[in-house]
Amino acid sequence: MTPTTVTAPGVRIRDLTVVYKTPAGELPAVSGVNLSLEPGTITGVVGESGSGKSTLALSLLNAVQPPGRIAAGSVEIDGLGDVLTLGGEDLRRARGRQVGYVFQAAQNSLNPLKTIGKQLLDLGRSHDVEDLRGLVRDAKELLARMGMDGARVLDSHQHELSGGMRQRVGIMLALVLNAKVVVLDEPTTALDMITQATILRIIREVHDERSLTTLVITHDVGAIAEVADSLAVMYGGRVVEHGEVTEVLGAPRHPYTQGLIRAIPRLSGDISEARALPGRPPTLGTLPAAGCVFRERCERRMAVCETDEPIPVFRDGRTVACHAVDHPLALVKRKEFA
Ligand SMILES: Nc1ncnc2c1ncn2[C@@H]1O[C@H](COP(=O)(O)OP(=O)(O)OP(=O)(O)O)[C@@H](O)[C@H]1O
Ligand code: SF4
Ligand SMILES: [Mg+2]
Repeated sequence: MTPTTVTAPGVRIRDLTVVYKTPAGELPAVSGVNLSLEPGTITGVVGESGSGKSTLALSLLNAVQPPGRIAAGSVEIDGLGDVLTLGGEDLRRARGRQVGYVFQAAQNSLNPLKTIGKQLLDLGRSHDVEDLRGLVRDAKELLARMGMDGARVLDSHQHELSGGMRQRVGIMLALVLNAKVVVLDEPTTALDMITQATILRIIREVHDERSLTTLVITHDVGAIAEVADSLAVMYGGRVVEHGEVTEVLGAPRHPYTQGLIRAIPRLSGDISEARALPGRPPTLGTLPAAGCVFRERCERRMAVCETDEPIPVFRDGRTVACHAVDHPLALVKRKEFA
């Protein structure tokens, strides 16, 4: 792989709201999210199941499917414009070529009837890749880096590969067209812990070599700490905290982030102190319509948390959405409610 000098694109998600149609009407799975992916960085996204991580990832490719719908917002990618305004052929070309991706459960999304090599060539042709030999060479190299025999994998059908091997094939397909923005939704869940860490490290290496802008979603807060530059914490469809990964994990400000970290002995540093976050995350149907979405589980909740949704506030390199975290607006708000 040749290192490239092209600068990485920035990605700006603004006021993004995505709803799903349910028997109770359209309910938001992602609600007014603002998040910037700085050029050349890896942003990790963590949060419990149902917090809206995959819905956010799908939005970056304008790939939310019915019964879902992007109700508001924009996703600006440098060199591409607002992805949410793209459609048809423009969108098809952008996916894979400009935005590489691994969707959740990607190990199940390969075509069972064609070899991986044939699917690779189909991908190349559908994006007008002229040098198909070069494409195969790059694919083999990526697979070899991830500990696989590239030639053998390309000759295989998906049923001949384990879940972990299929997942690595998915990562290869996300990277092989040299997209500059890469979105990886739980790219390593089918792998054992050690292989997960290795694959995340390889993703970091490729990211650095190619000067990419990458979003990685994972349940494994410990593993992401080692590869990401910044970390976004999601809860109930909101980004409740975002900042540099070492700072967010080292000195979490939002009560939810604090609870998440306390639950992980590896990060809290003390096995006897580790304790699970009490309660359950909300579903679309149980999300409160007003106030803070985390309040049912929050030890620091106040009267204002019942009525007013906390506004994300940027301070000292960190964005936090919580009435209890001191910032000028919080003080004003608390005075109003005093
Ligand atoms: N097709 C759908 N129809 C209805 N609701 C949906 C649909 N897809 C997702 N949701 C709901 O939207 C919310 C966000 O789901 P999403 O898959 O984005 O969460 P997630 O953070 O990726 O969860 P996980 O960690 O389990 O992958 C959840 O409450 C989920 O039940
Ligand atoms: S806004 Fe209130 S309920 Fe929400 S996290 Fe902060 S203190 Fe807790
Ligand atoms: Mg998901």
